[in-house]
Amino acid sequence: MSIEIAPSILAADFARLGEQVQEAVDAGIGYIHVDVMDGHFVPNLSFGAIIVKAVKPITSAAGVVLDVHLMIERPEALIPDFIQAGADNITVHVETCPHLHRTIHQIKEGGIRAGVALNPATSLSTLEEILPEVDHVLVMSVNPGFGGQSYIPNSTQKLKKLRHMLHERGLTNVEIEIDGGISVENAAEVAQAGATILVVGSEIFNNRGSIAENIYTLRLAIT
Ligand code: DX5
Ligand code: ZN
Repeated sequence: MSIEIAPSILAADFARLGEQVQEAVDAGIGYIHVDVMDGHFVPNLSFGAIIVKAVKPITSAAGVVLDVHLMIERPEALIPDFIQAGADNITVHVETCPHLHRTIHQIKEGGIRAGVALNPATSLSTLEEILPEVDHVLVMSVNPGFGGQSYIPNSTQKLKKLRHMLHERGLTNVEIEIDGGISVENAAEVAQAGATILVVGSEIFNNRGSIAENIYTLRLAIT
């Protein structure tokens, strides 16, 4: 499986969102990551399906996957809106879904790919029954809610364990996303540990370099 970089638009300049998404797409990325926060499950609010709809024409023209990460309570109520807006992937948190099997199938029945996310303190054992049903697993390497936080070192071990679990069960097509605190310093480490999609916010959208330069530097770090 190839290693993909998924820029998280949470760190983008919202006054120039279309322009910045276009710049990332032009740099050849395969995914755009969209962080939806409700101020309940996580202590911060971001945006809703309207932003997915706004960036969809840019990503679909280039065949880029719109990867929507729902950090919200009762995601099942809003999943239809996100599918309608153009999400290609939807990820829900195990912590917010008492009927996770039903929610995963709700996403898949909408014709798109479904994944589960785990907070840093949530054990991989919670995936035991659902693993065969998902297209991807997102491992949170910070506590969700904010961009720009530091990588929690134990996440590397968790990635290795998850890769091993998938391998043992023959689920080799399941992608592993790592999300939070990814930088040039740890990108190679998480890729080696088994992550195939690296979500990156503040290391891509910043004043230190252009979006294209920052993506290039990250790519170099993992090759
Ligand atoms: C955190 C979000 C992340 C975040 C990553 O709650 O899920 O996707 O935007 O941002 P950085 O790369 O700045 O940690
Ligand atoms: Zn995210």
